[in-house]
Amino acid sequence: MRFNHSVIEKNAILLLVLALVTVSIGGLVQIVPLFTIETTIERVDGVRPYTPLEQIGRNIYVREGCYLCHSQQIRPFRDEVERYGHYSLAAESMYDHPFQWGSKRNGPDLARVGGKYSNDWHKAHLIHPQDVVPTSIMPSYAFLAQRPVRTDDLTGHLKTLRAVGVPYSDDMIAHAQQDLLAQIDPDGDGSALTARYPGAVVASFTGTPSGAAPTEMDAVIAYLQMLGTLVPFQKTPLENLVQ
Ligand code: HEC
Repeated sequence: MRFNHSVIEKNAILLLVLALVTVSIGGLVQIVPLFTIETTIERVDGVRPYTPLEQIGRNIYVREGCYLCHSQQIRPFRDEVERYGHYSLAAESMYDHPFQWGSKRNGPDLARVGGKYSNDWHKAHLIHPQDVVPTSIMPSYAFLAQRPVRTDDLTGHLKTLRAVGVPYSDDMIAHAQQDLLAQIDPDGDGSALTARYPGAVVASFTGTPSGAAPTEMDAVIAYLQMLGTLVPFQKTPLENLVQ
């Protein structure tokens, strides 16, 4: 059977309609399967919601606009991986609202800064960056040490995050205030906190006495110290490369 293609080529409307039908079929084949799966993000071991203190630190990070100078996204390029570590996985920021990816880097990427420096280093750096990095152009955030964190909106905040998909359990929300205090009290019993949030760092981040409300600087440092530490990477991607 011979199909007379010239009919379509000579009729603009017919060509338009048939092109539209063809493109729609292609589009549907790509898009419809995505509706049947729960998430397009591959789950990775170790990723958990932020502890209350880390989450507050994260909010302060966003409030202060740290993202204007720092990205949190290591791209899968050799130079980035050699400098910052394993490239970022989508799952590592699956509980981030809003996410902190980006390409604006007046300062280094912070996706894996957790554990790179001591708490004392971070404290000194936030108070006066030039004390530890003389050429730094980062501004001082000394005032964070004077401000106790706001706690009255904590449970409401966790509930809101749960509404958008972060798996905070009733238990986590009910114990948010205790978990907040437990994380800055290394002499206390932090086992309930670490059971709820595996791998949470319990430390006296800036020397705030136990029982007292953490300062905003405690919260920011707790957040910085866990960035990129949740997934136990066995090897760096470079070690995996066949030379
Ligand atoms: C005006 C741009 C700017 C802003 C805003 C800024 N930083 Fe920085 N930051 C830098 C620069 C530049 C460096 C590199 C020099 C240094 O270490 O101070 C840096 C370094 C850092 C480092 C050390 C990273 C590493 O791997 O050595 C941390 C941690 C950090 N900043 C946290 C923060 C936090 C938290 C905030 C918000 C409270 C913030 N920064 C806001 C510019 C900025």
